[in-house]
Amino acid sequence: MLSVIQKAGQLIFELPQKWLDRAFGNTLNPLRHLGSLTIFFLWIVLVSGIWITIFFQTSVVGAFESVEYMTVDQWYLGGVMRSLHRYASDAAIVTLVLHILKEFVFDRYRSARWFSWVTGVPLLWLIIPLGITGYWLVWDQLALYVALISSEMLDALPIFTDSMARNFLSVESLSNRFFTLMAFTHIIGLPIFLVFGIWIHVFRINGPKINPPRKIMIGALMSMIVLSLVYPALSQGKADPALVPESLALDWYYLLVYPLLKYWPPATVWVLLIGFSLLICIAPWLPPARKPAVVKVDLENCNGCGRCVDDCPFSAIEMAPRSDGKKYASEAVVLDDLCLSCGICVGSCPTATPFRTRSALSAGIDLPDQTVNVVRDLVTEATQGLEGSRRLLIFACEGSHDLDTYINQNTALVNLTCMAQIPPSFVDWVLSRDLADGVILSGCGHGDCNYRLGAAWTEQRMNRERDPRLRKRVDDKKLALLWAEPWCDLQNTATAINAFRQTLTTPDNVSDREASARVETRRHPFRPIGIALAWGLFAVVSVIFTVWPRFSQLAEGNAIISLTFSHAGQRLEECRKRSQEELNKLPPNMRKPTQCPRERYPVRVSFSADDEVLYEQTLLPSGVWNDGESTIYNRIELPAGSHKFSIGMSDSGREEGFDYTGQTELILTEGQHVVVEFNGLQETFIFR
Ligand code: HEM
Ligand code: SF4
Ligand code: SF4
Repeated sequence: MLSVIQKAGQLIFELPQKWLDRAFGNTLNPLRHLGSLTIFFLWIVLVSGIWITIFFQTSVVGAFESVEYMTVDQWYLGGVMRSLHRYASDAAIVTLVLHILKEFVFDRYRSARWFSWVTGVPLLWLIIPLGITGYWLVWDQLALYVALISSEMLDALPIFTDSMARNFLSVESLSNRFFTLMAFTHIIGLPIFLVFGIWIHVFRINGPKINPPRKIMIGALMSMIVLSLVYPALSQGKADPALVPESLALDWYYLLVYPLLKYWPPATVWVLLIGFSLLICIAPWLPPARKPAVVKVDLENCNGCGRCVDDCPFSAIEMAPRSDGKKYASEAVVLDDLCLSCGICVGSCPTATPFRTRSALSAGIDLPDQTVNVVRDLVTEATQGLEGSRRLLIFACEGSHDLDTYINQNTALVNLTCMAQIPPSFVDWVLSRDLADGVILSGCGHGDCNYRLGAAWTEQRMNRERDPRLRKRVDDKKLALLWAEPWCDLQNTATAINAFRQTLTTPDNVSDREASARVETRRHPFRPIGIALAWGLFAVVSVIFTVWPRFSQLAEGNAIISLTFSHAGQRLEECRKRSQEELNKLPPNMRKPTQCPRERYPVRVSFSADDEVLYEQTLLPSGVWNDGESTIYNRIELPAGSHKFSIGMSDSGREEGFDYTGQTELILTEGQHVVVEFNGLQETFIFR
């Protein structure tokens, strides 16, 4: 089932990836740099955020005005910075979601990759609150909604005894201190944890791609700047606790779960969020588990050069002091838990050369399931029957096309785990032993190799830029690198293979490396238009779900009543004087003359409108000893118009009637927000 979902996901992914390959080229395709692109958008957020911080005022009165000043008066700079800040935050979520989906559908989250996968989850718990607190600071109508719903969520946790949401129900209860706390959380607290979290996320990876290629950065920045100029980010009217707008433009990227609070209690939403996070966390260990045999070091052949350590993309090899008494200083040691059995280290080992004459070829490090010796035998066997003057041998990795259909009398195929599994000496060997006239290395998408660095190392080794280098005597025109993708572009591949085959007999009129260039992914003549369209579409996707669909928080023609107060029930037992005899029995430091049992009665509240009971609850006292206040917080939607309200509360444990009552008649206007409170000193209810 899981693999069916993954296969379907791969198909969905690879279609746009193929189109973008045509426009951007394989290496500069943004869909192949999603993790680093997310980091780049976070950079834009940081830089624009610093500008905003300079002008932002952290107070209830100043917050909205200062943001408006930037947006309207300083639109050319402050406004652009604000828009960049918002849109880059949304773009980061778009690339982040794609990053997660991609790792999942291509099954790059199991085995040793579990570490990156699991450490990604806390990043979600940091980046989403980062956006939420940002919306809070603007102090517009959306901010008020965000403040209320976030507080309702936090109130459901056993952290605060009083209701936090009550702080946002009326102008009187708003406090500047809260704003300062929020600004600190948004500007300093969460970003610090996020940076630290990203560092942990990639720290076990060898050479993580932290920055996307420069051209991608330019494209991403330009798309955000143009978006900011064409469609500047705006506030949604100053926050007014006395009014509830019927609908809001919700940023669905950050606030996706908030509307659920309209239908479900906060505890249910917490269960959903925590359950989903836990499910992601355990995903790497869910069946079907696959763990091929990891590479083994053969000390007889290891000279301690350390190339395998440099090339392993997953830091799964360490150098250790020599243990077998040989003259070399160190030896390679494989950390089995981190090894993904890609074989890239085998391709880096100087001893993994097919030229060795020993009958059983053994490398310093080798894949037990597909040793260098086995690969050499496979090549010999596959090329044996080849005929003609344009004989081709194709090496294909597991991430490239299924090329079986190309096998014929002049084309042989050898399948590998990763293209970097074979050292360059194999190409030399095939050509110098005249096993074929040309060699094609067909790897998975360049810049997006299944094993991260396999394509890059292969290219560098074949270009003689990285050890082990392709020997100079090998004619470049007889080697082609074909960066392909499974499922798509097969037609392109066929054309490329045929084009390369043709070059094999026309060596003199083909320039250096032209052959391999021909078989790289074909580039469309309208590339610049494609690139502009792709970034334009990305900008639209980044902004569209921040304004559409609008979230209707209140049915048309309705108003809201918030019941909210804290009140301590009477004590279960009255205080009484201790007798002398009782005092004598107590240790001297505990001889208080009066004894006051702490436990309190619950508070019962009933609220009706036009003689219909809309709310009736018995609220338990807070605190471990049941001695704290009972807190009521409830929002009730009512049609606008005239209503007779009555409220009753009992705090003495009585089952019939109430200790305090209040009545009033109000004419509610559409979108009006009325708060019902209890004044403990005057023992009266207030409707305001
Ligand atoms: C702020 C959020 C995140 C950022 C900035 C980020 C960035 C990155 C970067 C730069 C890499 C290294 C890519 C490479 O060099 O090949 C990476 C790898 C990875 N990320 Fe993320 N990531 C984020 C969140 C997540 C999340 C939420 C998950 C999954 C739950 C995830 C799963 C992975 C996995 C599995 C890898 C390893 C890929 C491999 O070994 O081939 N990431 N991430
Ligand atoms: S096979 Fe080699 S390169 Fe690949 S993960 Fe294992 S040790 Fe690293
Ligand atoms: S590359 Fe080969 S020879 Fe060099 S340290 Fe690794 S296993 Fe030993």
